[in-house]
Amino acid sequence: PLTNNTIIVVLGASGDLAKKKTFPALFGLFKNDGLPKGIKIIGYARTKMDQDEFHKRATSYLKNKNDDPKFETYVNDFKSISSYHNGGYEDDESFQKLNSELEKIEANYKGEEVNRVFYLALPPTVFIPVAEHLKRNCYSKKGVNRIIVEKPFGKDLQSYRELVTKLKAQWTEDETFRIDHYLGKEMVKNILVLRFANMALSSSWDRNSISNVQITFKEPFGTEGRGGYFDEFGIIRDVLQNHLLQVLSILTMESPVSFSAEDIRDEKVKVLRAIAPVERKDTLLGQYVAANGKPGYLDDDTVPKNSNCPTFAATTLWINNPRWEGVPFILKAGKALNEAKVEARIQFKDVTRGIFKDIARNELVIRIQPSEAVYLKLNVKKPGFGMGAFASEMDLTYKRRFEDMHIPEAYESLILDALKGDHSNFVRDDELDVAWKIFTPILHWIEGKGTGNDLPKIHRYPYGSRGPEKLDEFINGYGFKRINAGYVWPVTNLA
Ligand code: BG6
Repeated sequence: PLTNNTIIVVLGASGDLAKKKTFPALFGLFKNDGLPKGIKIIGYARTKMDQDEFHKRATSYLKNKNDDPKFETYVNDFKSISSYHNGGYEDDESFQKLNSELEKIEANYKGEEVNRVFYLALPPTVFIPVAEHLKRNCYSKKGVNRIIVEKPFGKDLQSYRELVTKLKAQWTEDETFRIDHYLGKEMVKNILVLRFANMALSSSWDRNSISNVQITFKEPFGTEGRGGYFDEFGIIRDVLQNHLLQVLSILTMESPVSFSAEDIRDEKVKVLRAIAPVERKDTLLGQYVAANGKPGYLDDDTVPKNSNCPTFAATTLWINNPRWEGVPFILKAGKALNEAKVEARIQFKDVTRGIFKDIARNELVIRIQPSEAVYLKLNVKKPGFGMGAFASEMDLTYKRRFEDMHIPEAYESLILDALKGDHSNFVRDDELDVAWKIFTPILHWIEGKGTGNDLPKIHRYPYGSRGPEKLDEFINGYGFKRINAGYVWPVTNLA
């Protein structure tokens, strides 16, 4: 593990990701003594700027959430361990200069071993040249070297394979940490414990008891300003193929032999390999249009005028193994919807007919964000003289149950894991390969590259709505039953 003497180089330091996620996460760790002693941070990018300007940018997204009176002191200390170095992404000379800079800093450690962690917060176009240059010019011969990379890793199975082959020629799998930041979220990590530490759940976790599962991602804003990037990828590559599929694999894998990274990832790969590529008939696509004073997707200047890019997608996946055969897993994600919410909803089968009529199904909901919660909808006797059943819930809302809790940001938790060398919450090469296999055929269909030249229908939906009008019909088609039966979720819990 990287305990002491580490330099973290953030490449792409002037970009959005670094500003909004990487530096705030590094700061959060620094403030809570989570970074190795003697840590130094170097920002690297093409932009020319002085140290002051860099510090201003790198700290612009830091928030003093608990009104800590020492906040300013932490910020100043954080600045004192960070510096900026500008250079290109595609020439040896720039990286040789970076290396000299690293050696200069390392000289202060008086001959002790110093580790280098390279964090690539970069656009995909420069990703490979940078990885190659780092290996050639900046690879430490004395300490441990690690590289942290961000999505997108390719655009389909073939381009992914090309990318990974090039990366592997330089960096070993052990040195590589592929981020899917959903794996750093508290409630995503919680799934493993919920499933395997509770007999009450694990004994009914299969096709005999479960009717259908939905994993939902909703954002209340459009692509605003990110349209250029987004249009090249679309919602399937942006959210389904990575974040939601990761949640699915943890929800459905068999128990790992241990908590070790390879044991966990072996099980994830196994269940993913049992999933057939998504079929056209199991797909519903949408794109938002202007409504309620908000612009439509095509009104974004950075988006091509006739773009067919989906900003909403629902796809149903089937797992061909004894535990899950016949259970539909609906992954759905959309931009510019009516609310911000990410959750997994496991709907159980109907109780057998007999003494009860029209009784609601059980549902277990794992709310990933906002306001982490696990709740189980279950039927109880309506209090009073009668024997009528009533849909109620067992509610574990984290804020209420764990009053003094500190839930780390996903990026904090992942950077810490990478520093410790723990790969459990990073995506392995073969895992990503299967993930691309599952989605490549429909991605090609959407882009007109598939067999047959019919294009999918892209349903328009108003900004701020629940999604395409056809959504309910789509979901109900897989056996989902909305639990009404007088059921009202207490509003206070959603805060
Ligand atoms: C990113 C996507 O990976 O995840 C974004 O590229 C999306 O489009 C984001 O907004 C959502 O992350 P979070 O943590 O805000 O749910």
